[in-house]
Amino acid sequence: EKGGYDYFMLKEIAEQPKAVADTLLGRIDAAGSLTLDEVRIPDSVLREVDKVVIVACGTAYHAGLIAKYAIEHWTRIPCETELASEFRYRDPILDQRTLVVAISQSGETMDTLMALRHAREQGAKVLAICNTNGSTIPRESDAVLYTHAGPEVAVASTKAFLTQLVACYLVALYLGQVRGTKWGDEVRGVVRELSVIGAQVEEVLATMEPVRELARSLADKNTVLFLGRHVGYPVALEGALKLKELAYMHAEGFAAGELKHGPIALIEKDVPVVVVVPSPRGRSVLHDKIVSNIQEIRARGARTIVIAERGDEAVRPYADHLVEVPATPVLLQPLVATVPLQVFACELATARGNEVDQPRNLAKSVTVE
Ligand code: M6R
Repeated sequence: EKGGYDYFMLKEIAEQPKAVADTLLGRIDAAGSLTLDEVRIPDSVLREVDKVVIVACGTAYHAGLIAKYAIEHWTRIPCETELASEFRYRDPILDQRTLVVAISQSGETMDTLMALRHAREQGAKVLAICNTNGSTIPRESDAVLYTHAGPEVAVASTKAFLTQLVACYLVALYLGQVRGTKWGDEVRGVVRELSVIGAQVEEVLATMEPVRELARSLADKNTVLFLGRHVGYPVALEGALKLKELAYMHAEGFAAGELKHGPIALIEKDVPVVVVVPSPRGRSVLHDKIVSNIQEIRARGARTIVIAERGDEAVRPYADHLVEVPATPVLLQPLVATVPLQVFACELATARGNEVDQPRNLAKSVTVE
């Protein structure tokens, strides 16, 4: 049932190109428009939405953090992403014009369920992004967009994350389509580029041997830091979470701009630091800033592991290890940049002799608060 792989996690990582294609299936028509007929929330209601609130836990929360960048950019609707476990306890401001998006692979996470119940009690509309047909979260929501990733067995979420991202992009683009957006051309371009993402993830998977080798060489380290900016920041958080769960190592993700506000004190000789570099196209200011962050940490002796777009020569001189990913629109980069971090964590767990599919103390779905 593991399809020839040693672990479900490896199988699920390998299934990602197909999983993202399945999430898109039937949702983009021949003209390149989105057809989310299954979203039973009428377009007239979506046109009136004045705030989007995303609630989720763990990896699904990281997908939600990335979605915030996409939703605000493409639709200009204010969007907050919140840990489901914090959400209802702070008496959030919600009404009929709030769209709450609850993201959950299992559809059974108690914190997320309680958050959406609270949102509906306040009159908000709830759209679930979920991987498990007929589970509780979609049943209790006003509408659901299934991710169609197929069953995810390994505790560490991989293909569910990538497909949650695709679903989030679809929601963002759909809201843009329904309401009209000044980024019309960009949106059409992104819809086109989404359809090649599966092939690009495949490309990344085909080049992972050096990442595995690097992971094995770090098996005796105590800590790994992750830095990113913009959508690369949640990718850094996700890379750190995977490493904690699987390798039982101290790992922390930071927004690269925060370095000088504290975390740079952690940088010392030979500390591995993974840096997720945004595409040099489009947001060049961000790119240049992160290049100087890499220089800063390298000057303090860090061992830099840089994930960057193929052909990004500016980072090469400062990368002790360079992991190249295919070029994508800036907002879509997490779909390719996360994959090496999954492989990295999985290989480190194996090298440390940990149980990959069933990490200690964790359950696949957390049905208690
Ligand atoms: O089933 P859910 O997506 O609601 O689960 C949320 C988190 O418990 C989950 O993503 C967890 O963080 C994973 N083990 C991460 O790999």
